[in-house]
Amino acid sequence: MAKNKLGIIVGSNRRESINRKLAQALVKLGGDAFEANFIQIDDLPMYNQDIEQPLPEQVARFKAEVAASDALLFVTPEHNRSIPALLKNAIDWGGRPYGKSSWPGKPAAVTGTSGGAISTAVAQQHLRAVLANQGLHLMGGEAYIQFKPELIDAQGHVADESVRKFLQAFIDQFASFAGRFAPQRAQQAA
Ligand SMILES: Cc1cc2nc3c(=O)[nH]c(=O)nc-3n(C[C@H](O)[C@H](O)[C@H](O)COP(=O)(O)O)c2cc1C
Repeated sequence: MAKNKLGIIVGSNRRESINRKLAQALVKLGGDAFEANFIQIDDLPMYNQDIEQPLPEQVARFKAEVAASDALLFVTPEHNRSIPALLKNAIDWGGRPYGKSSWPGKPAAVTGTSGGAISTAVAQQHLRAVLANQGLHLMGGEAYIQFKPELIDAQGHVADESVRKFLQAFIDQFASFAGRFAPQRAQQAA
């Protein structure tokens, strides 16, 4: 069976982003379950309805990569108890132009990391509300990861055994969740 094409959207443009490190670790843990593609969002212009027609080149590229993804993994930082503007901007573009949203029907999972005690819980709740509004199918459960400098080593392995087991279960569950939508996709393609 063909692998699920996994589009990964990291809500950070920081060079040393801890959320990108988490996303890369999850790809490693996913092994052969997915064919992973990190979808760039830091080149998208600030959303403005005045520039929707024609779509800016970067936006067209972004929407094509989302469309080509069988499933989407969102890995978000928390900025002021919400999602970063960078990520909201990408989601807004994905939903436009009106009637041509890239989001409906995509299976998706949400996680994120910060050093804080509640570790992106509030941002993830906001993100879930926005994605549900856009018609994605969200995997249940919660994955709030508290980041510590030694959590992920230079090779992208999760050093802490209990966190590694938790993330392994999360990505395995997501592979199975995303797989449930394969017959639907095949039907739509036929
Ligand atoms: C503008 C701003 C607001 C932030 N607000 C929060 C917050 O509400 N909760 C939190 O846990 N961390 C907060 N942080 C700290 C981030 O968790 C930290 O910068 C983290 O490294 C961001 O993830 P990244 O490295 O993937 O960009 C904030 C950081 C910035 C720059």
